[in-house]
Amino acid sequence: MFACICRAVTTDDVGAAMDNGAATVAAVAKATRACTSCGICRDRIRAMLGERDAQCPRVAAAAQVAAV
Ligand code: FES
Repeated sequence: MFACICRAVTTDDVGAAMDNGAATVAAVAKATRACTSCGICRDRIRAMLGERDAQCPRVAAAAQVAAV
């Protein structure tokens, strides 16, 4: 499935970028060229990053500390 139509970037491409350390939309854009044309895909990339964060126990632990 394409995450970014303009640059033909797939969700697997974005996942690979995240696996290699891309943790922001800008970092994913730099790694894959997603979001570097019309920008419509920005929310989709942001959602993918959020889903990844939700699965990460370190992010959940950091959120609990920040809430205190
Ligand atoms: S759909 Fe990603 S830049 Fe246009």
